[in-house]
Amino acid sequence: MTDKVLAKRDEFLRSQTIEHEVPTPKEIPQEELMKRVPRPLRHVKYIPVKNLVFFSKHIPPQFSYETKIKTPIPSDKLVVQVRNAGLNPVDLKIMNSYTRNMNREVGLGREFSGVIIEVGAGQRGQWKEGDEVYGLFYHPNLGFGTAQSSILVTPSKDVILKKPSNIGFQAAAGTLYCLGAAFNILDALEAKGQLTEKSNVLINGGTTSVAIFAIQLLKYHYRIPNKLVLLCSEYGATLLKSYFPDLCDELIFVNYVMHSRQIHKPLQDMISNRETISYDATSGQPISIPYDQGKFSIILDFVGGYQLISHTDSLLSKNGAYVTTVGDYKANYSSDVYNAWDNPSAGARKIFGKMLWTFDYTHFHFDPNAKYATKNDWAEKCAELVESEVVKCIVDKVYDWKNFDKALEYVKSGHCHGKVILEVEKF
Ligand SMILES: NC(=O)c1ccc[n+]([C@@H]2O[C@H](COP(=O)([O-])OP(=O)(O)OC[C@H]3O[C@@H](n4cnc5c(N)ncnc54)[C@H](OP(=O)(O)O)[C@@H]3O)[C@@H](O)[C@H]2O)c1
Repeated sequence: MTDKVLAKRDEFLRSQTIEHEVPTPKEIPQEELMKRVPRPLRHVKYIPVKNLVFFSKHIPPQFSYETKIKTPIPSDKLVVQVRNAGLNPVDLKIMNSYTRNMNREVGLGREFSGVIIEVGAGQRGQWKEGDEVYGLFYHPNLGFGTAQSSILVTPSKDVILKKPSNIGFQAAAGTLYCLGAAFNILDALEAKGQLTEKSNVLINGGTTSVAIFAIQLLKYHYRIPNKLVLLCSEYGATLLKSYFPDLCDELIFVNYVMHSRQIHKPLQDMISNRETISYDATSGQPISIPYDQGKFSIILDFVGGYQLISHTDSLLSKNGAYVTTVGDYKANYSSDVYNAWDNPSAGARKIFGKMLWTFDYTHFHFDPNAKYATKNDWAEKCAELVESEVVKCIVDKVYDWKNFDKALEYVKSGHCHGKVILEVEKF
């Protein structure tokens, strides 16, 4: 008993970083020991935080214990104990932009799910301790991430939503960034009259996370009757069919791996020959499927580069829309830098100059902060779509956050088929 109490006391003193010389058990009378049992954590002035941070792209991330959330918290804020943090290519792009060692910590992760553990006085009517939530905490310039045991969220600035009981914490943590991006792209196209029931949509990168949400929105929310044409690998096509078996006849898969240098070619053939050729998975025999949808009215490019844009005359109908989340160069998560400007080569400029008047080109940039969400209520609308199970988050892999290196490597590979999620420890 005495040893146990002493060990507890030592542990407490160490956790408070109080420098005490700890006397040996013999020097302390039993009654004194019983009096000195540490008080429960609720009375400490700070919520301690364990935080996954990096200092530059050259040094691997590490855990830091420097952050503390002071209580009572400001009136307009909430503290969320994070359960899961979703990772995205943007996390790598942010890390890639820190080329020199910083003398401050930069956090990882932009998406979260968790439980509210503190409510600011001004938030009490709307939120309470124990509420299960998910959201976006997008502060790349301030260096705050969601891979922290607790985060201080400002509901007027950050997107935070009550998590419906029908989705788990892991899926919730991977939902809002890519769903929000896909929703806003399609919402803008609809507002411009470009997304209609006649739309014929091609998606480059059919198994990117943004595409997986876009497919669901186009088919289950906008109910676009035409088949969607997806450029993806054979393995990716098999996965999509298994995730959405009801959409098997609504999707046309074009294998980008077989045509990696000329991905426009099978698309041009498909349009001019009015058929698409796929290959039987077991016999390898070609199968002809009729295609009568003509040129595309919308190209959604989640891979980037010029391969499609330089053939828009044969692929995209006049006044069609080309939206890319990536831009002029093919995405490369090892070197791409956050907020880098497009830098088209002279050749591409010529192509743009020749083609731009015939179609509407958008390089989409998603700012997921709450003040932009008020413009079209995208966060509330996405919350409804998630709650009513019109769309779901496909989780590819979940890693304990101690294995963040493996998780980041996997995202960097560019071959995830769904979201990569970190399991954050209770601290
Ligand atoms: N601008 C913005 O606001 C914004 C917002 C969201 C995302 N983004 C960007 O959009 C891109 C997609 O993001 P994400 O998170 O959805 O990506 P992701 O999930 O990391 O994409 C991985 C997928 O891409 C597929 N893929 C890789 N190379 C391909 C190629 N050449 N052709 C077709 N598919 C290919 C892979 O399939 P296989 O393994 O089967 O090859 C894999 O399934 C990223 O560059 C991201 O930074 C930008």
